[in-house]
Amino acid sequence: MPDSAALDHTASLVVDLGDRSYPIYIGTDLLKNTELLARHVPGDTAVIVSNTTVAPLYAEALRVGLSAFKNVKLVVLPDGEQYKSLDTLSHIFDALVDAHCDRQTTLIALGGGVIGDITGFAAACYQRGVPFIQIPTTLLSQVDSSVGGKTGVNHPQAKNMIGAFYQPRCVIADIRTLYTLPDRELSAGLAEVIKYGLLWDVDFLDWIETNMAKLRARDEQALRHAITRSCAIKADIVNQDEREGGLRALLNLGHTFGHAIESGMGYGNWLHGEAVGAGMCMAADLSHRLEWISAADLARVNRIVTAAGLPTQSPADLAIETLRDLMDNDKKVQGGRLRLVLLHGLGSALVTDKAPEELLLDTLRATHAQPSPL
Ligand code: NAD
Ligand code: GLY
Repeated sequence: MPDSAALDHTASLVVDLGDRSYPIYIGTDLLKNTELLARHVPGDTAVIVSNTTVAPLYAEALRVGLSAFKNVKLVVLPDGEQYKSLDTLSHIFDALVDAHCDRQTTLIALGGGVIGDITGFAAACYQRGVPFIQIPTTLLSQVDSSVGGKTGVNHPQAKNMIGAFYQPRCVIADIRTLYTLPDRELSAGLAEVIKYGLLWDVDFLDWIETNMAKLRARDEQALRHAITRSCAIKADIVNQDEREGGLRALLNLGHTFGHAIESGMGYGNWLHGEAVGAGMCMAADLSHRLEWISAADLARVNRIVTAAGLPTQSPADLAIETLRDLMDNDKKVQGGRLRLVLLHGLGSALVTDKAPEELLLDTLRATHAQPSPL
């Protein structure tokens, strides 16, 4: 029977992709919700993929939620962005083959964006595709990576270079899992929340600015609103452009700068959200040089990112030339031309390959001062 207490507190959205549509559940006490899980796990075998940090915290509760299933297995991976690799992926395949998992096996990602991305890619590839569920446990994964079907692993020189679009059967975001998240990781998630306000919804940006202290204090209602509005914006964009033919590229605001910082510093040294925080300020700086946003808007972007506890500048010990070279590894590069997501006013973004190289270098020089390590 449905756990009505849990369902009553669950705000649901739908990613609308025809016969691949799926719900997003946002609420509390969802991991143990047997009815909810049974609704979305076909077959009788489920494999939970988690890591050494998250499994001890939440795998048992999820096992309780999966008590209706005959076979429940747990694969525990090492924790860290540096393990989002082809090597780690093959450990998942080894575990699935060793356990004779068939095509009816559902893979359940229990963790942050690293676990979600790698498990989703494993699900896309194993026996050419098995069912997959996202149970994101970081703010970043609840507002962004669990929604929209981007899965994959890193190449040593280029973030997320190997992967597939593969949609989950559902996303289950339990807000209370965020209570065990380190502060630094919460801030990293706020980067993606700010991103939605900057690129799509200036009213939401106002709300984020006003409620930043509550968000950082993990006020449940504030988190619920931030997650719900973020997922709604992401779903709206993915519904229109699932495979990033155009519009979806806007979701990469700050990411061309950020991915270069992440790979340049060595995966895991700067968190993805930290690199995106600095990257958004760098994108805002360049947008201001192009006279697309005012000096006051640029200052406001820096203020909001700072208030979230995030860096606003690239690391001083990553050479500007290296940073610039790494930006050319971005997936948005087309025909050798760098394409950047920039702001055109707050709440509005565009993709352009027209930013003059000299202005880009001015931005890289002007935003190159963040002491490291963070
Ligand atoms: P992460 O997965 O590394 O998680 C951050 C840290 O928090 C890890 O140490 C993890 O073990 C720990 N953790 C997770 N949940 C916890 C909890 N509830 N309590 C305590 N600790 C917990 O990092 P992330 O920020 O969640 O995700 C970043 C990754 O997501 C990057 O690889 C990025 O490229 C990817 N990403 C993907 C998409 C997409 O659309 N697929 C979008 C944005 C980011
Ligand atoms: N995080 C970027 C995207 O999902 O498209």
